[in-house]
Amino acid sequence: MNEYILDVQGLCKAFGGLQATTEVSYRMGQGELSAIIGPNGAGKSTFFNLISGFHRPDKGQVLFKGADITSWPPYRIARFGMSRAFQVSNIYPMLTTYQNVRQAILVQQRRTMDLFRRAEHLARKETVQLLEVTGLNEHHNEIAGTMSQGDKKRLELALALAIKPDLLLLDEPTAGMSMEETHATMELVADLNREMGVTILFTEHDMPVVFGYARRLTVLHQGALIADGSPQEVRDNEEVQRVYLGEEV
Ligand SMILES: Nc1ncnc2c1ncn2[C@@H]1O[C@H](COP(=O)(O)OP(=O)(O)O)[C@@H](O)[C@H]1O
Ligand SMILES: [Mg+2]
Repeated sequence: MNEYILDVQGLCKAFGGLQATTEVSYRMGQGELSAIIGPNGAGKSTFFNLISGFHRPDKGQVLFKGADITSWPPYRIARFGMSRAFQVSNIYPMLTTYQNVRQAILVQQRRTMDLFRRAEHLARKETVQLLEVTGLNEHHNEIAGTMSQGDKKRLELALALAIKPDLLLLDEPTAGMSMEETHATMELVADLNREMGVTILFTEHDMPVVFGYARRLTVLHQGALIADGSPQEVRDNEEVQRVYLGEEV
């Protein structure tokens, strides 16, 4: 049995002549709250796309919970316990927050249903729990499409959690948010990790956000992994400083 929840070896991906991912090896233990950082275009989203099955690597291997998932399609990887939130919106804008979350839970339980008539009581408890965890209780009756950007993000998080993931991937969870929303979102992410025990990997290009929350940072630069360690180790790394030249690290 592999002791790592995620064990990536020698991942490569090119788009035409552009090498977006170069020999990236990365391992993650159960319970980590870690970040992949790097400037725009560094290959962060591509890395996520590769491990979650949205892109197929040219080379390399992805082990998740000990299984080789390298060539699995995204839905199968999701069912196996790797969930993504953000950048891919799964929200049904015409349904209420409550209906959105319940729908996601029912899909996870693979129950078929008529959303509006039958089975009103199904998954009620789980839905209420998830709304509570993500701070959406007050908004349970709101039409999802009309909510604020911050609350939509919370809802996306709730939907990602509905599959009870072992590993949650968040691609720039605070993109486009105000300072206040950013901190609220990251507090929520930290809570999910601490209290629900979800292993979380997120990407971020904003350094200060990352240093405050991740316990481990891995830096990508032009598709290659250039540093990996504690926030302090990464902050002190000379190559990282060069990459982020001019920015406060
Ligand atoms: N589907 C794609 N087709 C072509 N080029 C892509 C594609 N996805 C990403 N790229 C390129 O790969 C590089 C890395 O992109 P990306 O992974 O999105 O970086 P990041 O998320 O770190 O900003 C960029 O130069 C980007 O233009
Ligand atoms: Mg990106």
